[in-house]
Amino acid sequence: MEPLSAGTARHFLTLLDLSAQEAQALIQRAQELKRLQGDPAHPLPLQQRTLAMIFEKSSTRTRVSFEVGMAQLGGHALFLSPRDTQLGRGEPIPDSARVLSRMVDAIMIRTFAHDTLETFAAHSQVPVINGLTDRFHPCQLLADMLTYQEHRGPINGRRVAYIGDGNNMCHSYMNAAKLFDFELHIACPVGFEPDEDLLRATASHCQLSNDPAAAVAGADLLVTDVWASMGQEEQARERRQAFTTFCIDQALLAQAKPDALFMHCLPAHRGEEVSAEVIDGPQSVVWDEAENRLHAQKALLEFLLLEPSVNTA
Ligand code: CP
Ligand code: NVA
Repeated sequence: MEPLSAGTARHFLTLLDLSAQEAQALIQRAQELKRLQGDPAHPLPLQQRTLAMIFEKSSTRTRVSFEVGMAQLGGHALFLSPRDTQLGRGEPIPDSARVLSRMVDAIMIRTFAHDTLETFAAHSQVPVINGLTDRFHPCQLLADMLTYQEHRGPINGRRVAYIGDGNNMCHSYMNAAKLFDFELHIACPVGFEPDEDLLRATASHCQLSNDPAAAVAGADLLVTDVWASMGQEEQARERRQAFTTFCIDQALLAQAKPDALFMHCLPAHRGEEVSAEVIDGPQSVVWDEAENRLHAQKALLEFLLLEPSVNTA
């Protein structure tokens, strides 16, 4: 087996690459950076540092938040797509990782197979950040946890309902339940459940059913995601049929706690996984959630690139 890292770099491939203590500190730092936004006292700790961003899938929030975040920290970000790089012409991932990591200070990757990301990290001398794979989307969870904390205080001990596809967002919520110590009730249609190994590994904090109403009963936070993720466009029609009873509408939201929040990583499909009334309604915090990608990732970049202790891990 290859070592997970070519050097001593600290990667962020899943949420569980952070300890619970580190995750809490990162959320707190994100809140501080958010307060300092636009202030002359905002720190510029990443001067002369460059982040390479490889996107093999589309993105609005991830691309903009990383690029703006690097600029606000005094650094620079570089957008790379397979279409215009040798990655798209079959240059081996280990070679690309070795070359890029000799020129830049960190690499963010959005790709399909999680294995691709792991292979890249195994050959990178600089931190590699998961900007979404088919299996996990950990940066989104940092933003979601920050958003909950801002609106309702600590999430530990709270009850969260994830309704919909057992996909990368569901998997990331499962890891978050363990890391941030909350109870996760997942409801998926039959045949669209999350990974069984991950369910076993997170069983202390996660329960799975095929019943949205049971999952949302007493919930403090309701979360959903698209029914067909990037790469599953051809299954969209079939999935719409399987998921029809998994829409978070006002009637379902009413079965949660009266002050429950609604989150969605976006982009959303009104009338599919969520009704317009809910996503545009008073319990939805999706715009804060989207903005918080910026603040949470700035804290992450600072942590991975600057923390003296992390490079000896
Ligand atoms: N939520 C999220 O990752 O959005 P993008 O696909 O626009 O980056
Ligand atoms: N599950 C979705 C998340 C998009 C941010 C996808 O992978 O397309």
